[in-house]
Amino acid sequence: MPGIQIDNDFNIHIASEEEYTEAKALRAHVFREVLKLNLSEEHDMDTAYTCNIVMIHANQVVGNLRIYDGYESILLGRIVVDPIFGGRGLGKKLVDYAVDYIKNNGKYKCFNHVNLWSRFETKVFYEKCGFYNKGETKDFGEISTLWMYRDL
Ligand SMILES: CC(C)(COP(=O)(O)OP(=O)(O)OC[C@H]1O[C@@H](n2cnc3c(N)ncnc32)[C@H](O)[C@@H]1OP(=O)(O)O)[C@@H](O)C(=O)NCCC(=O)NCCS
Repeated sequence: MPGIQIDNDFNIHIASEEEYTEAKALRAHVFREVLKLNLSEEHDMDTAYTCNIVMIHANQVVGNLRIYDGYESILLGRIVVDPIFGGRGLGKKLVDYAVDYIKNNGKYKCFNHVNLWSRFETKVFYEKCGFYNKGETKDFGEISTLWMYRDL
């Protein structure tokens, strides 16, 4: 799927290997240093089941999102926007790109909705992206989350 160009020279596309490495550094910076969350090591090198989408601005990764094919559900995760560019609609653009990618990719055709675990703090953001919660929750260590759905 080709990248899409959005306002002010931001481009969204599937990550190259180099961009993926940069995206992991952005995630580590935001989750560990900005949000002060004590996350365990991330293991997502298995590219048969995962697909990383990046947002590029001025040759730098400023956003990331991962699609994960979990057999029983198709999940979005690892969503992050560089705080410098937060609040400009870029997070929603990343989510919409991923949902379009899923809808247009034959290998995901058996799914009729996409899921994610949202921290309580980001529930409203995901609701604005079209997700809803049916009451299911789960704690991952110190992080309390809601299981959310968006219909495809
Ligand atoms: C969550 C995150 C990806 C949102 O990205 P963003 O680019 O700032 O969000 P957008 O500008 O696209 O926001 C879209 C809408 O959601 C709202 N929104 C965004 N973050 C919100 C929050 N934390 N709480 C409530 N509303 C929020 C915006 O106000 C906007 O509303 P509008 O359409 O009425 O104007 C970004 O803040 C981030 O990287 N956070 C840290 C990492 C993280 O928590 N990831 C999620 C893990 S579950």
